[in-house]
Amino acid sequence: MVTVRPMGPDDLGAAEALSAIEFGKARSPAYQLRWRTRTGHLLATDPGGCWAADDDAGLAGFAVSFRRESNWLLATFAVRGDLQGAGLGRRLLDAALAHGAGCERGMISASADVKAFRRYRAAGFSLHPQLSLTGRVDRAALPAGLAPVREGTGADRDLLDDLDRRRRGATHGPDHEVLASQCRLIVLDRPAGTGYAYLDDAGAAVLLCATDEGTATALLWEAVASSAPDADYEIAHVTAANEWAIDVGLAVRLAPATEGYLALRGLAPPVPYLHNGALL
Ligand SMILES: CC(C)(COP(=O)(O)OP(=O)(O)OC[C@H]1O[C@@H](n2cnc3c(N)ncnc32)[C@H](O)[C@@H]1OP(=O)(O)O)[C@@H](O)C(=O)NCCC(=O)NCCS
Repeated sequence: MVTVRPMGPDDLGAAEALSAIEFGKARSPAYQLRWRTRTGHLLATDPGGCWAADDDAGLAGFAVSFRRESNWLLATFAVRGDLQGAGLGRRLLDAALAHGAGCERGMISASADVKAFRRYRAAGFSLHPQLSLTGRVDRAALPAGLAPVREGTGADRDLLDDLDRRRRGATHGPDHEVLASQCRLIVLDRPAGTGYAYLDDAGAAVLLCATDEGTATALLWEAVASSAPDADYEIAHVTAANEWAIDVGLAVRLAPATEGYLALRGLAPPVPYLHNGALL
């Protein structure tokens, strides 16, 4: 007997642990904290979009979704391994999708899991393969001069909102507060074009949005140049439409590999744009 019910803050610990197992990746304590902070933020802004399931063994699964203007977005979705493939994912996703009823657009950064693919396709999403480029940055290939990016602040919100509406049809709204608390915000604002990017501790662009490919490329160069010399680096969440990002990765000798999909409903792959894995 599995019950589906609204998810609450008390579920965060068990949900993070279940997610770590089902996504099969070891997570640092810092990553776990970021996951709980981000998911707790979405529980607060969109309680109607977040659903959990229980059985006798405890938390059986969850789906965390949220609305930003007329976009519906799915941040995270998992079912405990022993229950997968038996229809619980459908129940959780249907509850989350109902939160987005009437939304014009939908976005999900999807794993490569065939069960997730079936669910999203059945819900009317188009699945666009995405690339991740990884490896050691060939620092000899970095450009001699970088564009004059500046550090972003809360005063840049209108600029960020305008860019996001152009690229994905909706702002990130309150999600900027979580992103800004976990990342460095850089802004490039010049006559030739405008853009912004959030960079994590490793210098990876975890969200990048710009008016044009030249500006997007300049922001990504700043990100790559800020990476640590002897650490692995990643340019993630690159759809084929964003070849400007593929070209930066290839220039510094990163290796491309396909990794999951950007699942979209009601919009084409945003470009130039590198989406965030959870906040899209
Ligand atoms: C993705 C996930 C949440 C879906 O939950 P679920 O309970 O497994 O989903 P459902 O059982 O409702 O649906 C799974 C679908 O895949 C099918 N399926 C099950 N096993 C399969 C297999 N080995 N090969 C192909 N299809 C399979 C099922 O028949 C069902 O399709 P249908 O409804 O068209 O018949 C769950 O599988 C999961 O946690 N996966 C690991 C984490 C993950 O990748 N999450 C998605 C993040 S984007």
